Amino acid sequence: MSVLHIAEVTKTFSGGTHAVNSFSLDVADGELVCLLGPSGSGKSTLLRMVGGFEQPTSGRITIDGEDVTHLPPERRPTGMVFQSHALWTHMNVFKNLAFGLKLRRMPAGEIREKVEAVLELVGLAGYGDRMTNQLSGGQQQRVALARSLVLEPKILLLDEPFASLDQHLRERLREEVRDIQQRLGITTLFVTHGQDEALSMADRIVVMANGKTEQMGRPDVVYRDPKTPFVAGFIGTMNLVEGEVTNGQFTRSDFTFPLPIADGPATLAIRPEALDLTASDTPKATVHRVTDYGSHGLVDLDLADGTRLKSMVAHPDLFRTGQGVDLKPRAVAAYRNNQQIFRS
Ligand SMILES: Nc1ncnc2c1ncn2[C@@H]1O[C@H](COP(=O)(O)OP(=O)(O)OP(=O)(O)O)[C@@H](O)[C@H]1O
Ligand SMILES: [Mg+2]
Repeated sequence: MSVLHIAEVTKTFSGGTHAVNSFSLDVADGELVCLLGPSGSGKSTLLRMVGGFEQPTSGRITIDGEDVTHLPPERRPTGMVFQSHALWTHMNVFKNLAFGLKLRRMPAGEIREKVEAVLELVGLAGYGDRMTNQLSGGQQQRVALARSLVLEPKILLLDEPFASLDQHLRERLREEVRDIQQRLGITTLFVTHGQDEALSMADRIVVMANGKTEQMGRPDVVYRDPKTPFVAGFIGTMNLVEGEVTNGQFTRSDFTFPLPIADGPATLAIRPEALDLTASDTPKATVHRVTDYGSHGLVDLDLADGTRLKSMVAHPDLFRTGQGVDLKPRAVAAYRNNQQIFRS
């Protein structure tokens, strides 16, 4: 049975912004689903509606079969960590965590036990007496997470909890959160606009644009088989080449590629790791820049008309700026009218 059920939820703000547009999603017991999309695509609004901080204009939200659409946050079995974390700075860590349990009239001894267990869980054992403004950004985010977890919500709602942290810490915390989430088996909706975060954490990804689902599926499937040019360009690095198909041949500038689809305009999508380069007497592209990342290299190329492409290569030292090369795509997808019409 799915634990969280979102059915055709729409949110139109006064002023007419359609933040969320007839959005539906089922999240299974213990699943972690990432909502991924550009700024303004409606991710936070959707999450806030699940948490009860915003009322849908229409549609229904149920949790374990119970309609919660119009319940206030405190009467929902949800816990939310906000985009900009909101710890109480006049309270120490312990009090921040104990607050919600006190409201539930839990006995003091039990509160202490629970708070200490959760602090341990998020790696902050012994920090109870610290004031929250005496913590690093990463520690503050852990407290925010702990404050949600201590209330043992059925559904955990995380809105870009690591956005303000540096890359290194973000990577570590997302691994920790994933571990905790799996250990507790807690159903989680996680908002991010970082595709790395989504690809590494999620059981399933929902790619959102304009308040709607562009595509949803397992991370590897969405990465491998994006159904629209938007998803193709949004997840991972992708070469998207606009061109014309005539007699089964795609053409853009000097670059041609056999494409068995009807004549007309098409967008060809090629991952950098699926674009091989070879030396050639009749080069189709010119090397613009070579970047050596140690484990691999990235070659920026220009077609004759200036179209920029990227190719991932195992041996960057074989290429240099100004060199002419031929392009050998190993796998492509083609799109027309925003739909995928071919994949090799
Ligand atoms: N309280 C509000 N009143 C009016 N419009 C709002 C309100 N909150 C959000 N919006 C609008 O709704 C749309 C979706 O906003 P939302 O915050 O859900 O986006 P988001 O996907 O979370 O973006 P980000 O990645 O920048 O956090 C935006 O166009 C935003 O301006
Ligand atoms: Mg947001």
